[in-house]
Amino acid sequence: MQISVRTAPKLSVWAGVLALASAAAQAQAPAPNPHLARNLAATCANCHGTNGNARGEMKSLAGTPAERTVALMTYYKTTPQPQGVTIMHQIAKGYTDEQIKLIAGFFAAQQPRK
Ligand code: HEC
Repeated sequence: MQISVRTAPKLSVWAGVLALASAAAQAQAPAPNPHLARNLAATCANCHGTNGNARGEMKSLAGTPAERTVALMTYYKTTPQPQGVTIMHQIAKGYTDEQIKLIAGFFAAQQPRK
């Protein structure tokens, strides 16, 4: 009886340590968000339209091969003062190469409407 009273708190301490350890492990390796590409691409919608289908004069991105979008975004990102570019050189700098690939892949998979 004395033994179980003395070991019980120790067990609960270990349970707490284990819970913290598994929480830390989860924080290090978060589950990949299945909507990440779509969510990143949504930041382009104000100008390039919902799902990359722009209205009016703005260029649509829907159905554009991913390599083309990646190439243009990389050009915008890495060229100090690209000729005739008004805003994309600033926007492109806000995304990692990995994020640009995800965005380009999302738009390549969208159905162009025009
Ligand atoms: C504030 C409006 C705006 C937002 C937001 C925006 N763009 Fe643009 N985009 C433009 C404009 C304007 C151009 C024409 C080039 C320029 O003037 O910068 C352009 C051109 C492009 C082009 C070249 C299209 C072509 O065929 O010539 C690509 C690719 C592109 N944008 C990708 C993106 C992506 C990807 C995002 C989101 C991460 C995005 N844009 C967000 C305004 C925007």
